[in-house]
Amino acid sequence: MEIKVTPAQTNRIRPKDSDLGFGQVFTDHMFVMDYSEGDGWHDPRIEPYHDFSVSPAAMVFHYGQAIFEGLKAYKTPDNNICLFRPRDNFERMNRSAAGMCIPQIDIDFVMDAMKQLIRLEEKWIPQTLGTALYIRPTIIASDPFLGVRASFTYKFFIILSSVGAYYAEGLNPVKIWVSKDHVRAVRGGVGEFKTAGNYAASLIASEKAKKQGYAQVLWLDALERKYIEEVGAMNIFFLIGDELVTPNLTGSILPGITRYSVISLAKRWGMTISERQISIDEVFKAHEDGKLLEVFGSGTAAVISPVGEIRYGDKMILIGDGTPGEISMKFYNALTDIQYGKAEDTENWIEFIE
Ligand code: PLP
Ligand code: COI
Repeated sequence: MEIKVTPAQTNRIRPKDSDLGFGQVFTDHMFVMDYSEGDGWHDPRIEPYHDFSVSPAAMVFHYGQAIFEGLKAYKTPDNNICLFRPRDNFERMNRSAAGMCIPQIDIDFVMDAMKQLIRLEEKWIPQTLGTALYIRPTIIASDPFLGVRASFTYKFFIILSSVGAYYAEGLNPVKIWVSKDHVRAVRGGVGEFKTAGNYAASLIASEKAKKQGYAQVLWLDALERKYIEEVGAMNIFFLIGDELVTPNLTGSILPGITRYSVISLAKRWGMTISERQISIDEVFKAHEDGKLLEVFGSGTAAVISPVGEIRYGDKMILIGDGTPGEISMKFYNALTDIQYGKAEDTENWIEFIE
């Protein structure tokens, strides 16, 4: 399929790197293609960034049949553009698609389309540490129909956003709030898919957490409300003595690509790394015993985000001394050195855009 390109007639300037927050600055172009049962995915095009015209009856608005991905492009010191594990994102997107009755995409084709789009938008890639070009591939159900079923038509699009840190705290430790009353996802449901409804379901607890000064929610399992799952936009790791623990994938947690990367690095460094059930009580007990050394989240948007405080009902623990812990920083530096092309890519995680 040939990609039709319509250049934008604009000359906008990227804000200064130091002014970039997360997800507010969009680039000049976007990639779009459509799906219908007869034609499959068709009409791929790169167009000026614009508002869509869709029916108010489009199924995505009513029943939330939508999936997305999040990955980043980086500029290396010698001005090359690289992507971090991009194929893993599209493989996860196809798993999300299967789970949400959305047609599969051709990974090689969308990889090429994404690269072509990024090449065109090169000026929007910031270069300072902590900044990147955030890539948001998305699929929405577009049938104008009010009955409940899987849509017959879809739109796939990729938009790009020049970003800085996800949290206002930057690399400073964030405070997280354990939700007792609300759950995000249940085993057998759609928690392991990157689908819009999971984020909608998380809002009520996030708003409560925010009101109390917490950056994100730490979710517990929906059945026993005991075992730790993940944070709003990150997977979570606990350094207990010399064991690095992260919850095992149970079906209700997003299988994070940064999570896999942290696990690989930990193995390479000879750390004891466990993917296992870990209860909130175990975390508080480890703290009481002086064994909870560090806590950090992992995610594309947040990279590695040290956690400095956890609140659970009327109990609260402080982790570390208010500065990022040594192990959290070791992971942050190792990952960002690979992502920004400053260290050898021993794991084959980087894909360059020619
Ligand atoms: N968990 C949730 C709910 C997320 O939204 C994200 C972000 O994508 C992650 C975990 C981390 O996943 P990844 O490392 O692939 O970005
Ligand atoms: C990401 O880390 O890419 C995410 O998608 C998190 C979030 C902004 C939903």
